[in-house]
Formats: sequence, C-alpha cells, structure tokens
Amino acid sequence: MINRFSSSGCSLTPCYDNPSAITHYTFEAVCGKYRDNTSYVKAAGLAHELKNPLTTVKGFIQLLEPELIKMGKQQQAEILIEEIDRATQLINTFLDVHKPNASKKPFPLHKIVKNIPAIFEGEAKIRGIALTETCEQEDIMVAGHSDQIKQVLINLIKNALDAIEASGPRNNGLVHLRMYRNQAEAFISVEDNGPGIHVQQLNALFLPFYTTKQSGTGIGLTICKNIIEDHGGRIGVESTPGKGTTFTLSLPLHTKES
Ligand SMILES: Nc1ncnc2c1ncn2[C@@H]1O[C@H](COP(=O)(O)OP(=O)(O)O)[C@@H](O)[C@H]1O
Ligand SMILES: [Mg+2]
Repeated sequence: MINRFSSSGCSLTPCYDNPSAITHYTFEAVCGKYRDNTSYVKAAGLAHELKNPLTTVKGFIQLLEPELIKMGKQQQAEILIEEIDRATQLINTFLDVHKPNASKKPFPLHKIVKNIPAIFEGEAKIRGIALTETCEQEDIMVAGHSDQIKQVLINLIKNALDAIEASGPRNNGLVHLRMYRNQAEAFISVEDNGPGIHVQQLNALFLPFYTTKQSGTGIGLTICKNIIEDHGGRIGVESTPGKGTTFTLSLPLHTKES
C-alpha cells in the first residue's frame, strides 16, 4: 500500500515542476493571486454575500424539519443542515485566510466515511450510479479538521461520478469507498469504474486549474492534496484507461501519545 504513494511512475502523488509553489492548505493556495488586485476583494464580497441565502435556506429547512421527520426523512434533513453548515464554514475559511488555522482535534474518521453515501444518495440515484462503502475497521481516530476531510471525500466522489457519467450511458456505474488501516495510518480509497486517466495526464491532475471538464474549475484536487498534506497524510492515484481510477489517501492515526 505504501508503495502506491512512494514508487515512481504513474501511481505516486504527481510531482510538481515547482513543489514549493503550493504550500499548506488554505484558499490562498488557489486564490492568493487575487489578493494583489480588486478581484480578491470582489471574491471576498461574493463569499460574504453567499452566506445570506445559505442562512435563509437553513432557516426554512429547520422550519420544515418536523414535516421531514414525519415523512421518515430525518437523515436527509440532518444532511441538508450539515451541508449548509459546511458551505458556511468553507466561506468563513475563505474569508479567514489571514488567520492561523484552528488547532486540530481528534475525530472518528469512520463516522465521516459512513455518512458519505447518504450525502450522495440523491445525486448518485439521478445519475444511475451505485455508491457503496466498506469500513474494514471502526474506531479509527485521526487528528485534524473533520470538515476538511469530508470536503476531500466529497470532491473525490464528485469527480468519480462526473467521470462515470462522461463515459456515456451505462447501467453498471460504480463508486466504492473503502476505509482500512495499518499500525500507523488510516487509508481511504475511492474507486470508480469510469473511463480512467491516461498516464500523460496523471502528473497534471493535482495542479491548480487543471481540468478536462467544460465547466470544471480544476481546483478540487489541488485543495484535496493540500488538505491531506496539511494533516500529515498523502494522496495518490492509480488508473487504468478503460477500467477505472482509484484515489487513495492516508492519514496518520491519532493515538493517546500523539
Ligand atoms: N475519478 C476520475 N476519473 C477520471 N478523471 C478524473 C477523476 N478525478 C479527477 N479526474 C480528472 O482530474 C481533473 C481535475 O479534477 P479537479 O481538480 O477536481 O477539477 P474539476 O473537477 O473542476 O475538473 C478533472 O477535470 C478530470 O480530468
Ligand atoms: Mg472536481
């Protein structure tokens, strides 16, 4: 497993031409260039204003929550509220680029992994793609920002769904999320049976603004890499064109001594 990250060739985390160009995870990593001009101010203004409709939507969902519970949709109601809180938190992080990161806290990684299929229930169904999950061990604790790790998984799964969909109509699309551990690290893999990625493209995947999608931003994987590295972990990819792609991330386990 370790080799997946450290061997040469296409399976290791792509190397940058200038690795020092991208440092720790903050939105500064991808938006920092805006800070020299008014675009950053505009982006910050937009981010700030986005919080208002989010608050309105959250208020209405809270109002509707009892009805949703009566309909047997309590889990969906909780996810809606959690996702709105997550979006608000992302905006706050963007607006807080100058502040040092809040201190990292231990959290149960398996809880996040187990919740992910429910987040994508609607989207996967609409796209006709099955999303499955296996947690090989429970009680896996890591230290960090659980919201950010969730953001990484959401980005990886969204990419997998996009890739399967882009490969054309089919009825066997599958994304599988798997969590396991060894003595020192927890691993999460996101495997899809999409079109795969050509070896020439692998090195560009984690570069800011690299995208093959018409409406893509190309910053999702850059953010994922920065978040994982900021947590002391690694992220890598293996892909076979025509068969599919697996992104795997590792995070150091939190122990009482750590
Ligand atoms: N699971 C996947 N299968 C195939 N290609 C992928 C997969 N995940 C990412 N990619 C490729 O990596 C590119 C960059 O992804 P990302 O940084 O998330 O930006 P975006 O999703 O906006 O394009 C995608 O445009 C796509 O070409
Ligand atoms: Mg993406």
